[in-house]
Amino acid sequence: MDEWTTSHDRVLAQRNAEGWMFLIEAARDLRTTGALAPSSKALARLLTDPVREHGIRPLNVLEAGAGTGSVTRALIPRLSPGSRLDIVEANPRFASQLRHLVRTHPQLAGQNERVHVHHTLVEQLDTGRPYDVIVSGLPFTNFTPAQVETIMNRYLEMLHPGGTLTYFAYRGTRYARALTSSRAQFRRHRAVEEVLAGYQHRYATGRWTVWANLPPADVWQLRRPLDAPVPAEPGVLAGVAR
Ligand SMILES: C[S@@+](CC[C@H](N)C(=O)[O-])C[C@H]1O[C@@H](n2cnc3c(N)ncnc32)[C@H](O)[C@@H]1O
Repeated sequence: MDEWTTSHDRVLAQRNAEGWMFLIEAARDLRTTGALAPSSKALARLLTDPVREHGIRPLNVLEAGAGTGSVTRALIPRLSPGSRLDIVEANPRFASQLRHLVRTHPQLAGQNERVHVHHTLVEQLDTGRPYDVIVSGLPFTNFTPAQVETIMNRYLEMLHPGGTLTYFAYRGTRYARALTSSRAQFRRHRAVEEVLAGYQHRYATGRWTVWANLPPADVWQLRRPLDAPVPAEPGVLAGVAR
């Protein structure tokens, strides 16, 4: 076997192991894990495009809800010299897997301090650093509308004016929820979509569909305006049902 085959095999084995780990965590807690499998490379690339678009300027980047690191792996090579990445992850097993990824990533050799893994809820994260880019992998449609509003407001607060937030939403989940869940769950899901629609209406600069993901997903890109203040209190957006 040549060197390429063995390293290729190693990558495949690692992806396989991460796929299983994700599935086990989803079985433990589907609400927080929010998916049965990690994001595809196509989805990860689109989510991290704003980092590349900023060019060679050093950036502060936040990734929220990193799971096994499929988006983190797309982010790291795109960080310009001098950039910092904070990763926040609620699940302790994912957080320790992410720390391993950071320790062993060849592009971070000798400069691991550029990337920090925080094991906490994003709602409780306070690094005191404003971010140029936030990439969110959180499963919003599993949360309550109030929680989503708190997190979206926090994201906008943590962004520099002009900074970019990307997040994704799986396609068709509302219909799946209508078929498989109670009416109360369906109503909660719809209320979350209404909260998100309020933010999209005010701040969205782009939306793309990624079909090469299981399930296909819409990627949203939002920008914090240069001049407008962030809404101070939950509930100011569109009289949302809670
Ligand atoms: C749908 S997975 C996405 C994982 C990864 N970004 C990907 O795309 O493959 C959602 C991740 O968000 C994490 N998570 C859920 N709620 C969170 C919260 N409030 N704060 C931080 N992480 C959270 C979960 O543990 C899980 O790893």
